[in-house]
Amino acid sequence: MDLHSRQLTLGSGIIPSVGLGTYTFFEKHGSSDETEAAVGLAIDAGYRHFDCAWAYGTQAVVGRMLEKKINEGVIERKDVFITTKLWNTHHNPKLVMGELMESLKQLRTNYVDMFLMHCPTGEKDQGFSGEVLFSIDTKEFENYPLEDVWKEMERCHQLGLTKNIGLSNFTIDQTNRIFDCCTIQPSNIQIEVSPYFLNERLVKFCLGRGMTVTSFSPLGCPSHPVRLAGEKGPLEDPVLMEMAKGKEKSVAQIILRFLIQYGTVVIPKSVTPSRIKENINVFDFELSEEEMQRIKSLNKNKRVYKVIRLKHHPEYPFDAPL
Ligand SMILES: NC(=O)c1ccc[n+]([C@@H]2O[C@H](COP(=O)([O-])OP(=O)(O)OC[C@H]3O[C@@H](n4cnc5c(N)ncnc54)[C@H](OP(=O)(O)O)[C@@H]3O)[C@@H](O)[C@H]2O)c1
Repeated sequence: MDLHSRQLTLGSGIIPSVGLGTYTFFEKHGSSDETEAAVGLAIDAGYRHFDCAWAYGTQAVVGRMLEKKINEGVIERKDVFITTKLWNTHHNPKLVMGELMESLKQLRTNYVDMFLMHCPTGEKDQGFSGEVLFSIDTKEFENYPLEDVWKEMERCHQLGLTKNIGLSNFTIDQTNRIFDCCTIQPSNIQIEVSPYFLNERLVKFCLGRGMTVTSFSPLGCPSHPVRLAGEKGPLEDPVLMEMAKGKEKSVAQIILRFLIQYGTVVIPKSVTPSRIKENINVFDFELSEEEMQRIKSLNKNKRVYKVIRLKHHPEYPFDAPL
């Protein structure tokens, strides 16, 4: 691995190692002006990767800013890597392509670079109004076979609506099921990874199968209710703080650099101009093997995202052995 490379190779092309997260479920819903401005600032700061999802409700503002920057000649469409995700309420194979078409319309593009299944947990069918994101009770779980959902995602790929297809929040067993049934292999998996949750077995397994791995909530999701209730995250870790001081970097930069050297892509979310710049400025320094090991030893195997409301879903993925 080239430690200063800003991208990883992928089934079809490349994926930039740092992308901008465009939504956090625990913050203001939509916050469209901030998100739109953040995308513009990110492009100016050098970001060429945007992590979106139908469920985030921010695709329209992301698309608007991307189109503006393309029209101004700042970027070309081919230089930007856009991810979107199939939401739980659209696992019905009849809805899969319709959702992607709706996302393309919102993003103002003819194709995305990556289309991920957001979660293996299907929920009751919904249209595309965005009015109902979550099941109210377990009777509303809808369990379409993951293999059937994948087949429809393959059709989206074959029709050129997406350059790559992949998974998110899948376990090793669920990922193996996709490898067993696929004609187009998943080229990326997006999962929670941070210094406090290395997710080592799954990361190793996916890298070993030739997939790229994207770390979501790389900074430990400081706005998650468990953090607000007092559970400290990696941004407040004394070892990382000391390391950051010694290297004249921020703790966030140490974390993101660590996760890149760990072999993953990172998608920190920020709407703060200084942080947006800071989070992509991680290619002018390296962590030594000893520093990498020191950070690895901070692992608490503690995930933030458990999505308890889905606990009784037959495909619930967050209890898998680590
Ligand atoms: N596939 C999935 O199921 C899934 C799940 C969760 C997240 N994601 C994706 O991953 C992205 C990131 O995850 P996340 O938002 O949960 O967590 P995160 O990126 O770990 O944390 C985002 C939070 O950290 C703050 N922050 C950003 N840069 C900072 C810095 N340099 N110093 C201090 N604080 C900083 C942000 O605040 P400000 O914005 O106020 O600056 C924001 O509150 C999401 O936006 C989404 O695209 C995917």
